[in-house]
Amino acid sequence: MLKLENISYSVLENGEKKHILKDVNLSFGKGQTYVITGPNGSGKSTLVKIIMGIISPTSGRIVFDGKDVTSLSVDERANLGMSFAFQRPVTFKGLKVLDLMNTASGKKNDLAGQCKLLSNVGLCARDYINRPLDDKLSGGELKRIEIALVLCRNSKLNIFDEPEAGIDLWSFENLTNIFKSLKSATNIIVSHQKKILEFADEVILLKNGKVEKTGKPQQVLPLLAGNQCGKLRGGNE
Ligand SMILES: Nc1ncnc2c1ncn2[C@@H]1O[C@H](COP(=O)(O)OP(=O)(O)OP(=O)(O)O)[C@@H](O)[C@H]1O
Ligand SMILES: [Mg+2]
Repeated sequence: MLKLENISYSVLENGEKKHILKDVNLSFGKGQTYVITGPNGSGKSTLVKIIMGIISPTSGRIVFDGKDVTSLSVDERANLGMSFAFQRPVTFKGLKVLDLMNTASGKKNDLAGQCKLLSNVGLCARDYINRPLDDKLSGGELKRIEIALVLCRNSKLNIFDEPEAGIDLWSFENLTNIFKSLKSATNIIVSHQKKILEFADEVILLKNGKVEKTGKPQQVLPLLAGNQCGKLRGGNE
């Protein structure tokens, strides 16, 4: 349902070309859950932002449901059925959680449905539904609301960039259950967490902007043992 063909991304830094992603080729199947992992700075967030259209690749092609979407905007990709939760969620001053959830779901007055989704991400709906989505919310609250915003879109493709970041440990199990319940969609989750890696249908290991290995969790996890933090960008450029 999603294909990345020879995706490369580079930027100019102090007059020099910096290669962030190099010739990434990946295929994502319908109804499968993929976890992208790898050292800090290896290009994971860059890759998922390219899939969503938040940044444009320097070269390569993105095909979604048989359609070349490489030059489409974020909105156009969202309309085709992609949703995205940021590593660092954005805030919207003046907009309430309920307004955003209604906009995201396309339903005007679905108070009961939106409350249920907030409960699913571990938030007491009564306390949050009318709160503005601003920087007064804690990091973990923002992460949870952002996950609820993705859930209410009911998309074909859900992308979560480090959804576990800032989520306290006792809620972690609920979070993994949410991902397990999303089995009818294709899910791409960027994560460093073993528990999330373990339930992937396929794990993709990125290193220095390249795909180092793809495979079942039991094939990829041993490569990470003792090196979960790793050196920045793999340390062997
Ligand atoms: N616009 C840019 N200009 C310069 N460097 C950039 C730019 N965008 C990303 N980078 C660099 O590219 C590398 C990859 O960044 P990216 O955010 O994709 O890493 P990541 O794998 O998501 O890391 P983390 O695990 O810390 O979230 C980093 O070294 C980052 O500093
Ligand atoms: Mg990142």
